[in-house]
Amino acid sequence: MDNQLKFCLHLHKIKSETMKNILIVGAGGQIGSELTAHLRSIYGNQNVIAADIRKTDNISDDGPFEQLDVMECAALASLVHKYKVDTIFNLVALLSATGEKNPTLAWRINMGALTNCLEVARWFGCAIFTPSSIGAFGENTPHDDTPQDTIMRPNTIYGVCKVSGELLSDYYHSRFGVDSRSVRFPGIISNVTLPGGGTTDYAVEIFYEAIRKGSFVCPVPENVYMDMMYMPDALNACVKLMEADPSRLVHRNSFNIASMSFTPEILYAAIKKRMPEFTMTYEVDPVKKAIAESWPNKMDDSCARKEWDWAPEWNLDLMVDDMLKVIKEKFDKGLIR
Ligand SMILES: NC(=O)c1ccc[n+]([C@@H]2O[C@H](COP(=O)([O-])OP(=O)(O)OC[C@H]3O[C@@H](n4cnc5c(N)ncnc54)[C@H](O)[C@@H]3O)[C@@H](O)[C@H]2O)c1
Repeated sequence: MDNQLKFCLHLHKIKSETMKNILIVGAGGQIGSELTAHLRSIYGNQNVIAADIRKTDNISDDGPFEQLDVMECAALASLVHKYKVDTIFNLVALLSATGEKNPTLAWRINMGALTNCLEVARWFGCAIFTPSSIGAFGENTPHDDTPQDTIMRPNTIYGVCKVSGELLSDYYHSRFGVDSRSVRFPGIISNVTLPGGGTTDYAVEIFYEAIRKGSFVCPVPENVYMDMMYMPDALNACVKLMEADPSRLVHRNSFNIASMSFTPEILYAAIKKRMPEFTMTYEVDPVKKAIAESWPNKMDDSCARKEWDWAPEWNLDLMVDDMLKVIKEKFDKGLIR
């Protein structure tokens, strides 16, 4: 540890019980862009610092934004010191489909970001949230009602990073007392920022193509079930878990959370019911097929329900109605083409 860092640590005196000053790294991505706005609406604009390697307008307009490469540990530490951060949301990752194109880079970024965030959390006494994923499971995992504690032998580099990340986060909790918590997100469906290279991206892209062209070419086989979640439930899960009473948490890294599970064919039928002219064909991507088939059909989220009162509010029909409405409005206003 260099002298500048030691000096920061010496000055950094805060240790809050709940979230007061929050840093989101990877804030410009699909989840981060909406989590930033959501946390600012709860904790105040000035108390939620968005950081990303790229500058993004919608997160830098309403509150503090810092351009940060999270691989630079000293730069991360000095931000935590500067803003007296007590909670870090680490959202930096190369996602599943992109990760398979460059596994060494995926390992370096996903584990490097996590290691730096955990170290800085340890030095400054911060709580830390790092999402895991349904991608942490593999072919040998029970696919139906996938238990909280079960076989985890993923065969993607993304999954390998997620399992390693869960273990490392639990290690930092038991070894150093770091307040690390996390959830295994399903595929996240949203209408603000497009997804960044995951296997479940089809479940977002289908809505844009339905409105834009009236047709969609699906890269995932018609009959593969995967857990999915609408963004408002995902944001709520982040807050609820980080605000949960730690004495109730038997698990930490990571909780299964679920709200809906469907195949491309089921999603297609739900959209077609509302847009009868909509058509869908398949051009299956073999990488996405292999990944999707290795993931759970539907997770059992009873531990999250019991330990921190997880309760989703959105189901398939509510989500489809809202996605079509919001994306259509954006097209009508010329916000997207
Ligand atoms: N989106 C999903 O469906 C989903 C599902 C399960 C888990 N997750 C997990 O949630 C987290 C966020 O996912 P997302 O979909 O928002 O990802 P994303 O790819 O949309 O966003 C990641 C962000 O990290 C930034 N970033 C990359 N390298 C960086 C660096 N070195 N320093 C600082 N910023 C950097 C990128 O610019 C990007 O804005 C990830 O851990 C992901 O594995 C996402």
